[in-house]
Amino acid sequence: MLKAVIFDLDGVITDTAEWHYLAWRELANRIGIDFNREFNEELKGISRMESLEKILALGGKADRYSETEKIELASTKNDHYVQLLTQMKPDAIFPGIKELLEELKANGVLIGLASASKNAPAILQSLEITNYFQTVVNPDEVERGKPAPDIFLRAAEKLAVSPAECIGIEDATAGITAIKDAGMYAVGVGTIEKMKQAGADLVVEDTQELVLSVLLREFNQ
Ligand code: G6P
Ligand code: MG
Repeated sequence: MLKAVIFDLDGVITDTAEWHYLAWRELANRIGIDFNREFNEELKGISRMESLEKILALGGKADRYSETEKIELASTKNDHYVQLLTQMKPDAIFPGIKELLEELKANGVLIGLASASKNAPAILQSLEITNYFQTVVNPDEVERGKPAPDIFLRAAEKLAVSPAECIGIEDATAGITAIKDAGMYAVGVGTIEKMKQAGADLVVEDTQELVLSVLLREFNQ
């Protein structure tokens, strides 16, 4: 029986995935690293410092910066990203997500957030949806980031449900791997080919398709 739906944030609830991309691209370009959307896919769901490491490795500059300089680079990116976030209003929520949160609440299905973002609580506040969530896992609470299943398992633990009673929703391939390895039903938001390849059980190309009756039908099959 479905007891909880555990959401990723960036790229599932709102379009911050695009803002992460813009902020990383600007930083990468500033230090002479070429950066495109295809490479950006690899950063989705990945923590801030891991993302920086991947970018530096892409540019062959992994050894060029000290730990202190890396922290400065990551915080420069975050300052830019947080600046972009100031534009965020409740209408930035993706189509159908608010309705899904309402449906879940009305049907007693628990709601959790499993985002790698340390900015997640502030984003939920800006979107005015904090109250729907029974738990928001702080990424610092878990040892390993996505694609490890830790953050989804922690969300289930905090909601006191078993992983088999959960649906996880993700837009990143690392996130789909995390959900599947947690033993949950994985819904991918994105292109069918990419999400199926990552192991998603159900794929929607548009968040408007995320309707409780559809989720229940597929989950119970
Ligand atoms: C999410 C995004 C990643 C981002 C990570 C950390 O998982 O998909 O692109 O790097 O959160 O976000 P933060 O806001 O803490 O830098
Ligand atoms: Mg995401």
